[in-house]
Amino acid sequence: LRFLCYANDGIDEHMIWLIGLKNIFARQLPNMPKEYIVRLVMDRSHKSMMVIRHNNVVGGITYRPYTSQRFGEIAFCAITADEQVKGYGTRLMNHLKQHARDVDGLTHFLTYADNNAVGYFIKQGFTKEITLEKDIWQGYIKDYDGGILMECKIDPKLPYTD
Ligand code: ACO
Repeated sequence: LRFLCYANDGIDEHMIWLIGLKNIFARQLPNMPKEYIVRLVMDRSHKSMMVIRHNNVVGGITYRPYTSQRFGEIAFCAITADEQVKGYGTRLMNHLKQHARDVDGLTHFLTYADNNAVGYFIKQGFTKEITLEKDIWQGYIKDYDGGILMECKIDPKLPYTD
């Protein structure tokens, strides 16, 4: 199992994985318009942390790092149907936190969680209580109803992966 983070950088192999991830999101997030998923996954200011197994993508998280504000917005998160509840979602989030802290310099994540995914996000350390000052994120992340805004503080020192 490999955890790799790429943006749409023009490299064929990365592009193939991003398309695979886009297809997982389209299937697992049926309420999201497909064109919107494609646009964000392929957008150069978004990055995707992907779970790769046997050279195939089995899940991932697409996020936008706002480095000047030191937070990231998680846009989409999913694991392919037949690989769910095996712990991949937790390992994925831990790799994302490590990368976001050590590479992007972020201190927090924000996301609009689907109601049925709130339990997953709580287990990953997200809370419904938002501690970040509103003027840090207001105007950066888009309001979206049908989800609940959640926050996660990234520990400055904790080793999230082994
Ligand atoms: N509700 C409550 N708890 C959950 C859920 C859920 N929907 N999904 C997983 N969990 C729990 C598991 O039981 C597990 O708990 P445990 O540690 O006590 O055993 C823990 O969360 C982690 O489970 P994993 O096996 O690591 O999670 P998984 O690999 O299945 O990934 C994910 C979780 C990404 C939510 C996956 O189930 C999925 O793709 N679901 C469909 C798509 C989805 O809802 N995505 C999130 C939408 S919101 C957004 O994208 C911003």
